[in-house]
Amino acid sequence: MKRVSFAEFGGPDVLRLEDAEEPHAGPGRIRIAVRAAGVNPVDWRLREGQSLKAHPVALPSGVGLDAAGVVDEVGAGVTGVAVGDRVFGEGENTYAEYAVLTAWARMPEELTFEEAAGYPSVMETALRLLREVGVAPGQTLLVSGAAGGVGSAVLQIARDRGIAVIGTAGAANQDYLRRLGALATTYGEGWAGRVRQLGRVDAALDLAGAGVLRELIELTGDPQKVLTIADLDAPRFGVRFSGTAGSVPDALAETVALLARGALHIPVEKAYPLAEAAAAHIDSRAGHTRGRRVIVV
Ligand SMILES: NC(=O)c1ccc[n+]([C@@H]2O[C@H](COP(=O)([O-])OP(=O)(O)OC[C@H]3O[C@@H](n4cnc5c(N)ncnc54)[C@H](OP(=O)(O)O)[C@@H]3O)[C@@H](O)[C@H]2O)c1
Repeated sequence: MKRVSFAEFGGPDVLRLEDAEEPHAGPGRIRIAVRAAGVNPVDWRLREGQSLKAHPVALPSGVGLDAAGVVDEVGAGVTGVAVGDRVFGEGENTYAEYAVLTAWARMPEELTFEEAAGYPSVMETALRLLREVGVAPGQTLLVSGAAGGVGSAVLQIARDRGIAVIGTAGAANQDYLRRLGALATTYGEGWAGRVRQLGRVDAALDLAGAGVLRELIELTGDPQKVLTIADLDAPRFGVRFSGTAGSVPDALAETVALLARGALHIPVEKAYPLAEAAAAHIDSRAGHTRGRRVIVV
């Protein structure tokens, strides 16, 4: 089969489309014929060799965590899913013609494979953040970096739960945030003052790692009310860093429920063929994705 891989850490040029052995579904796993794979910043972070202590990578390595496709192998002990089912979920080396998933759910009928591949990781992250940050219905959550994959998920889950959101994004994404139910303002010079004019803030999420923890603490009045997924300086500010991926085991079921209620839609900004994974990484790394980018197989 074809898969995207890298044999050394480095820039996007280390990515190769190679012929590889097909993976197979061990116990408790399924294999899918991949139709689309989600692109996450962690994909290019691992390719660059960032945070190898937390995420050891054996070379050569495949790429990708999220995928949607058609089940073609069911491992021992797996029930409730059959060959031919359309599923989406998380696994490893998903930028490939076949991939093994460790968590999955049946795709809602109306979703395309491209759309479905965009949901798994960002929904797990968003549900985890809303649980850990400690914000209740009727309160207001400030989200720095609200227009990306995780932000788009956080805003819609919060809206569904009756949590008000103030989001920051670039000028081009202000209407996008408003369509997702948030009050919006731009980041950059004077941003904290603009947030203050929009209202009181009970808790804050830093999704962009743009060096704003000090302001988020001032706006909430307490470092413990601030949570980041992207700023490694968090301990210096007494702010919590959330990084335990996979700690919301029912995230896919909750995603399906939100989709069924029409409460969730994360747009795909761009889809790239498998052979153009490097372009997807370059565009993701530029840091201005609205919604999601995906690879189509
Ligand atoms: N620790 C964890 O568990 C975990 C899990 C998932 C992701 N992450 C990390 O969290 C970050 C976000 O992930 P993602 O998937 O949402 O990324 P993404 O889809 O690439 O989104 C990036 C967003 O950041 C916004 N942005 C850029 N500069 C900004 C600034 N100065 N202030 C505010 N927003 C700014 C962009 O908005 P504009 O286009 O409007 O500029 C864009 O929408 C990444 O660094 C990723 O590695 C961590």
